Amino acid sequence: MYLVLDGPPAPEAFPHRELREALLGYFREHQKLVETEALSLLTARPEPLRHARQILDGPGASVPIITRGMVELVYTAPAAAPAPALAPAEPSPVPAYALIAEGYAPGPPGRQPLEAYGALFASRFRTLSRILRGRSDLPHPVPVKEIRQHEGRSAVVGMLRSLRQTAEKKHLILEVEDETGCVELLLPRDRPAAKQSWMPDEVVGLELEVPRDRNRIPVVKEVHRPEVPIHRDTHRSDRARRVLFLSDLHLGSRSFLSESWAELVAFLREEGPAPEIAREIAHVVIAGDLVDGIGIYPNQERDLAIHDIFDQYVELGRRLRELPARLNLVVIPGNHDAVCPAEPQPALAAEVRAGLPENVRTVGNPTTCALEGVVVEAYHGRSFDDLIPAIPGASYSRPTEVMKSMLAMRHLAPIYGGRTPLAPLPRDGLVIDPVPDILVTGHAHTYGVDRYRGVLLLNASTWQAETDYQKMRNITAVPARAAVVNLADLSVLTLDFARNRPAVVADGAA
Ligand SMILES: [Fe+2]
Repeated sequence: MYLVLDGPPAPEAFPHRELREALLGYFREHQKLVETEALSLLTARPEPLRHARQILDGPGASVPIITRGMVELVYTAPAAAPAPALAPAEPSPVPAYALIAEGYAPGPPGRQPLEAYGALFASRFRTLSRILRGRSDLPHPVPVKEIRQHEGRSAVVGMLRSLRQTAEKKHLILEVEDETGCVELLLPRDRPAAKQSWMPDEVVGLELEVPRDRNRIPVVKEVHRPEVPIHRDTHRSDRARRVLFLSDLHLGSRSFLSESWAELVAFLREEGPAPEIAREIAHVVIAGDLVDGIGIYPNQERDLAIHDIFDQYVELGRRLRELPARLNLVVIPGNHDAVCPAEPQPALAAEVRAGLPENVRTVGNPTTCALEGVVVEAYHGRSFDDLIPAIPGASYSRPTEVMKSMLAMRHLAPIYGGRTPLAPLPRDGLVIDPVPDILVTGHAHTYGVDRYRGVLLLNASTWQAETDYQKMRNITAVPARAAVVNLADLSVLTLDFARNRPAVVADGAA
């Protein structure tokens, strides 16, 4: 869809969802992220397209994030002389916190499951194929049903439906589909891509050699994954601010590490080691499994200290109140929390949220937000349970390796029908878009810091000691570590609270 913003704006021509997409696309073209509330306000007011352009010319000219405040500003500016009033004399300050997108958005009620899942996968394909079609190294892709009309070099973007090996020569046969049809393609076994791991339903761009003879199968020459672009906009804060990343508190469990937690509280109150670092921490992100929950695994009741789910959240509130009230706490749910387990998960319900302190922002799993302008995507990490068995060499002890695959596929949970239940929503909120500056997960109960194409990868640690259930599943916990990220350069400081005295154990270079 092309938007001509110089012409007379006609927002009524767009249905609501398309208008949102069009506005997002317009801001994206100008390398701007949009706060969710800003987008909602813009779509609800008259002439959103004209005002979007005014924002870019005015208050949003020199900042990476378009905020609700900027939208309010352009709608309240005097209509007679909008241009001078909105001249970018003073750049708007970058907000300390901006919600960019939650993965969860409720769908229309009453859809049949088949229709609903069809819409989900169509959404995944649309978003990922848009990313691939924008790639300069992928020749212009053609629809699957037109492949035979393009002899010689050609390309398609398709979703992988099945994969099999030929009996004799062990070449791969990929069956891929798009909205127009399905086709079988041959990937010779000596190609590097034939040795990579493939995920069902992943969306890829394929360079092809299409033979003139229609009895011969088209051959895959090159495989392109959606990937993180090497050249892209990254965001850093110009303020001396830091974020603390935690995960998997599991409050209510007998094995919650209360002594280590007390050390963490002392550190944040500037009463422990490195108070000068603690002073600069403005945000805390907690990547799910806030409480241990009820009935999550067999015989869990033996491991529980608090047997009532509401009481577990009361305890969560009490623990979070121990942290300094000046902190901005951003929490997402995980598979142990009392929300629908299908992903994307909504934020905690009002009944359990009520007991949390006022400085807590409860958002869905996953969620993308900007902290001091730095884009953070938080995802609990349930899909590790499906991806680790599917990726050769992957393990719970090195979850950041799996996160690299997520980024290459630009999807947090690509496997359908495994251990990660997927919610049949009209928009696939598990696609990674935009690319964050920091991707954080939990779930593995270990700890990892890594980087991939400029994205900082964190697997935040747990505050629960190793349980018998984890031992049975061969998971070695690395508890009570905290990652402190400097938002000015994305350098990482790791604090280990598992010892008697907390210690700085690693300092990751930017
Ligand atoms: Fe957990």
